[in-house]
Amino acid sequence: MKRIYLDHAATTPLHPEVAQAMLPYFSDRFGNASTLYSYGQEAREAVEEARGKVASLAGARSPQEIFFTGGGTESDNFAIGGIAWANQKKGDHIITSAIEHHAVLNTCKFLQKRGFKVTYLPVDHDGFVDPDDIIKVITNKTILISIMHANNEVGTLEPIAEIGKIARDNGVYFHTDAVQSFGHIPLRVDELNVDLLSASGHKLYGPKGVGMLYIRKGTKIVPFLYGGDQENKRRAGTENVPGIVGFGKACEIAAGGMTEESSRLGNLRDQFIKGILEKVEFIQLNGHPATRLPGNVNVSVKYVEGESMLLKLDGKGICASSGSACTSSILEPSHVLSAMGVPPDVAHSSLRFTLGRENTEADVDVVLGVLPEIVKGLRLMSPLYHEK
Ligand SMILES: Cc1ncc(COP(=O)(O)O)c(C=O)c1O
Repeated sequence: MKRIYLDHAATTPLHPEVAQAMLPYFSDRFGNASTLYSYGQEAREAVEEARGKVASLAGARSPQEIFFTGGGTESDNFAIGGIAWANQKKGDHIITSAIEHHAVLNTCKFLQKRGFKVTYLPVDHDGFVDPDDIIKVITNKTILISIMHANNEVGTLEPIAEIGKIARDNGVYFHTDAVQSFGHIPLRVDELNVDLLSASGHKLYGPKGVGMLYIRKGTKIVPFLYGGDQENKRRAGTENVPGIVGFGKACEIAAGGMTEESSRLGNLRDQFIKGILEKVEFIQLNGHPATRLPGNVNVSVKYVEGESMLLKLDGKGICASSGSACTSSILEPSHVLSAMGVPPDVAHSSLRFTLGRENTEADVDVVLGVLPEIVKGLRLMSPLYHEK
């Protein structure tokens, strides 16, 4: 059975050229990038070359504004904790949204226990944060605003540039979690008016366990890890050279074909959404129809449990998701859909398909071919369907 992978928001397959680029750094070029002999210098050069590629994809003014981390979660922790602890004399207030990834939400919760005050902004039915809400809650004690660039569940793209301008006008640091958008849609830190931006290698066909935090020059932030002088003393620890090289290569590849690929995926997504809404009754699209990530399709198929559809789809070789991967073992309805006003039963019936570079129209056709039958079969067993 051919497997159809439609869960690119959870992780992406390693690009073959990325794997090739990484391989020598596991074997011949194994040096520690902090050593002075040639092995070390080879590794150092590779790390700095990768930093340049990542900086270029982010539109950073200098590669020195890119700090390699152990992934998106670490970057979010670094950004929020680092700004909070460095700026506590100025204030104790952080603004974020109710639909952030848990890497942001749980960092904020931790800081709340340590005395910081956090405002969790609501979102509208499409998942948008209203920039006017930021103006309403910002105070002279606000030290950080953290709003994600693209939501990982419903794909909604937030008005980051507008929010960034408000942050700048008020002298407040602005962080965006761009883990889902980086390498998928064009993005430049100056245009977005951000001071800090998180990204992760494994979401753009790079390796897992490596990410980056963009930190605008001059930003007051405390280091994330203490130890050696690596990453300009802000993130200690021997560099993950193969991972960093792979991340850099993935950024270079993404930069090469991003406009074409995002428009191809956007068309495929629209075709998918149109087909699914036509073929399955009692279904709703979650998130904004157009202002969303090119590969994201999130629907609620009413009167059917998301998990049961996932298992049936898996039986047909189709990998999808019923929520974000990190929370899919929890029975709580998705915090994102709940914040968007989706009732719990409808949230429980959600399915997320996220398309990627190896998907074609034929894959979409296969899903559109099997899903109506799966839904029909499950609804026949669903008391909710008969009671409706
Ligand atoms: C929006 C968002 N932020 C952060 C993360 C965490 O990234 P990582 O898996 O690299 O720790 C994810 C992963 O799904 C994500 O989607």
